[in-house]
Amino acid sequence: MGQRFIHILNVPNLDLLGVREPEIYGRDTLADVKAACLRELDGTGVGLIFRQTNAEHEMVGWLHEARIGAFGIVINPAAFSYAGYSVLDALKMCDCPIIEVHLSNIHRREEEWRSRSIMTRSVTAMISGMGVDGYALAVRHMLRIDRRNAA
Ligand code: DQA
Repeated sequence: MGQRFIHILNVPNLDLLGVREPEIYGRDTLADVKAACLRELDGTGVGLIFRQTNAEHEMVGWLHEARIGAFGIVINPAAFSYAGYSVLDALKMCDCPIIEVHLSNIHRREEEWRSRSIMTRSVTAMISGMGVDGYALAVRHMLRIDRRNAA
């Protein structure tokens, strides 16, 4: 088998992480998130594909790429969490562990609709409210589960 990859996929408005509502999302950028995830993967042999788009169709294409044989998917579905049915359908076709990550605690946000992610019922696990740490924790967890399964 060739090298396996964790796909970390980010969608609308996360390109502006660090400047977007920093009181909610913090001051770290997506580049900081990527660096933290690379640190987790260092020496493991597992590769990283780290992406962001504002376009739903692009996200669907990336999920098709990850559909078979990916090590795992870490997805922050951002605003697609609430109406991104094409993203949800694409996620359902993926055969690897999937962790949904939200920087903020979507259950504590002022707008009640933010707590109703349509993705959650179709993912392996969900991390919400741990800021940028959530991504690295998701990666660490996937590595640990894989090691446990291989033992
Ligand atoms: C978010 C929470 C969503 O409600 C919001 O639409 C986002 C970011 C988060 O990471 O906390 O864009 O997914």
